[in-house]
Amino acid sequence: MMTLTQGDGPASEMKGDLETITSLAKRRGFVFPSAEIYGGFAAAYDYGPLGVEMRRNIRERWWRAMVQERDDVVGIEASIITNPDVWRASGHVAEFTDPLVECTQCQGRFRADHVENNTCANCGAVGKFTEPRRFNMMLSTIVGPVADESARAYMRPETAQGMFVNFDNVQTTMRKRLPFGIAQIGKSFRNEITVKQFIFRTREFEQMEMEYFCHPDTSLETHAYWKKERLRWYYGLGVRPQHLRLRDHTPEELSHYSKATSDVEVHYPWGWAEVEGIAHRGAYDLTQHSAHSGKKLTYFDPEANEHIVPHVVEPAAGVDRIMLMLLLEAYDEEQLDGGDSRVVLRLAPAVAPVTVAVLPLSRKDTLDPTSRRVWDVLRPHFRTQFDDAQSIGRRYRRQDEIGTPLCVTVDFDTLNDEAVTIRERDSMLQTRVPITGLVAALHERLAALEPRVPSADEIEI
Ligand code: GAP
Repeated sequence: MMTLTQGDGPASEMKGDLETITSLAKRRGFVFPSAEIYGGFAAAYDYGPLGVEMRRNIRERWWRAMVQERDDVVGIEASIITNPDVWRASGHVAEFTDPLVECTQCQGRFRADHVENNTCANCGAVGKFTEPRRFNMMLSTIVGPVADESARAYMRPETAQGMFVNFDNVQTTMRKRLPFGIAQIGKSFRNEITVKQFIFRTREFEQMEMEYFCHPDTSLETHAYWKKERLRWYYGLGVRPQHLRLRDHTPEELSHYSKATSDVEVHYPWGWAEVEGIAHRGAYDLTQHSAHSGKKLTYFDPEANEHIVPHVVEPAAGVDRIMLMLLLEAYDEEQLDGGDSRVVLRLAPAVAPVTVAVLPLSRKDTLDPTSRRVWDVLRPHFRTQFDDAQSIGRRYRRQDEIGTPLCVTVDFDTLNDEAVTIRERDSMLQTRVPITGLVAALHERLAALEPRVPSADEIEI
């Protein structure tokens, strides 16, 4: 049996760098600076037509693995702006802070742990920082027509609290027995002090979180189980084991709610950084909400004949960071015979924005009706694109650059033999297949290109 070994440091660098990926993402319609015609807005991004498809695929893949393929997890969608008491109970109003320092020379503000060599990244002054003070990262707004403090509400900084405040509703309506999970995907907001590295750290971002409620006696095993499950998920998207690792938080790093947290870290071009946190939240959240709301948030354990407060293990990932990781991981520049080269995004078909491109060999009117008929056949089954502009070679390169695993070429022979050519992105192999069997042939090839999801036994943690 093969064992997948986690990453071991800077040797595991990816081929793509941040600048290359940022430029490709903009040029090809994945990610645009937000409101660019107005000069943009700090660390805000708009996702373009290809980016939006890729994000939907990431969410879909997560939802299938975390909810639909399991018998113990259900989903919810809670509101982003909710009763501010939720955030007082959760500890976010008092505790959700980062250390902020100010440069006394230029008044630039920075997160203390992001300052390098005691030097101001703005003006270059050395050792001119104030003492760190606690800066609360909650973004707030005023709800309703009266603009006073009593109307202040918060944009959620994590989706997790939606699951805790609905624990009882879900348990009752779904008649769930421990262990069970509640999952949610949605936007969260944090007034980050420093925002950098493209879509890695932004003030508005999207989370995919699952709160897994279990008996306190089994919580440590449950934590270990989810660490493996989550690594399996990333490996199944084609992320190479050497580019991923689990790192346990030190006691100083732990969030105010956590007993133990392991981060899934990726070797981004600037070093190892978190893509997902897998926290053991103990009974913290249910206990807090019970105390603040006055409602009993317990589970009746029929075997022990007693009410208990379940413990919680929480895998919490970010769509934006996963997208950045996948783009960096997939990026490849390949030398071809004859001195030519190509850029290829070797994305897993499951996340590629387009799975099949239809390319008529020439723009001639004679090919158009047949090409469009082929496109009509494929659209209900695949994420497709039709491209008839410029030479076929350039069109293959364009599809390679956006990660399209398969192209279907319609040529003049098609008019006689009702067959087309399938061209594979990675191998560039071309095969002729009849239009009647095309959908099945494409499904088969896409399935073969999907990375294998390893079993839990193959993963070392
Ligand atoms: N409920 C637990 C929680 O929110 P977290 O580690 O703060 O834990 C989970 O966030 C994930 O959300 C992170 O691993 C990251 O992928 C994403 N995330 C957090 N802050 C982010 C930000 N400012 N920009 C982009 N993604 C962020």
